[in-house]
Amino acid sequence: MSTPQSSTGPVPAVVERRVALVTGAARGIGAAIAGELHRRGLRVALMDQDGTGAHARAKSLDPGGDSAMAVSADVGDPEETRRAVEAVTSAWGRPDVLVNNAARTAAGSVWDVELDEWDALMATNLRSVLVLTRLCAPAMRERGWGRVINLASLAGQQGGLVAGPHYAAAKAGVLVLTKVFAQELAPYGVTVNAVAPAAVRTPVMDDLPAEALRRTAERIPVGRFGRPEEVAGLVGHLAGEDTGYITGATLDVNGGLFMR
Ligand SMILES: NC(=O)c1ccc[n+]([C@@H]2O[C@H](COP(=O)([O-])OP(=O)(O)OC[C@H]3O[C@@H](n4cnc5c(N)ncnc54)[C@H](O)[C@@H]3O)[C@@H](O)[C@H]2O)c1
Repeated sequence: MSTPQSSTGPVPAVVERRVALVTGAARGIGAAIAGELHRRGLRVALMDQDGTGAHARAKSLDPGGDSAMAVSADVGDPEETRRAVEAVTSAWGRPDVLVNNAARTAAGSVWDVELDEWDALMATNLRSVLVLTRLCAPAMRERGWGRVINLASLAGQQGGLVAGPHYAAAKAGVLVLTKVFAQELAPYGVTVNAVAPAAVRTPVMDDLPAEALRRTAERIPVGRFGRPEEVAGLVGHLAGEDTGYITGATLDVNGGLFMR
């Protein structure tokens, strides 16, 4: 950001092209968010443990690589994550927008989920939000502008319909971590919000039988599954210049499955 001076006095600050980092951007909602932010003129770094998928998605947005780049990292591994953020920073500078989207969807019963599986899923779905926000938000705070958007879930609000207790508990943790960071960063022009989707048609549902999908759709008040682009549009809005008064919020994108 710079404030050039002219002979007639100061001119309005020039906003340099914002940089966004989107995790889990190889497919599904994350890929749609990367596309939406890119369409809105941001440079987008797509982080995913599926480096090939992230690379293909980045190429589809910008074959030249000037405004879309892929970084391969497992968000459950803090050291790998740190190196990936450094790679983005050395290419384009510290991200102005962070979208914590990567997560593993897992089923299971509260009575028999293995403790190792509990810990592993917490590292991927919850601790990663802490690690990535700590890596990216201090630079946003210094610059006086930033957006952090965390993908939560209806499961974190009401318990999982299909997803297991570890997934639901991790997403509930994401909701409260959103508020903790929002309070910390509010005075510095950095907003932190959660988007809570439900029943959005992504590759994660591809293995479910058609009949089960049809029965689920019937229970959604809107009468159909959501589209990744419908989540991405909201994330794009939250990442914008004129949303500085929205912070610590949870915004639902669930076709009416949960109304507060
Ligand atoms: N689809 C839904 O209906 C729905 C509902 C509620 C919440 N969500 C949330 O929205 C987000 C996106 O969901 P989706 O349906 O697009 O999921 P998806 O499984 O289709 O895509 C997830 C992406 O994250 C990546 N990823 C997973 N674990 C990773 C790790 N450890 N490190 C780096 N990348 C990793 C995957 O490779 C994949 O590209 C998730 O946070 C999910 O919990 C989705």
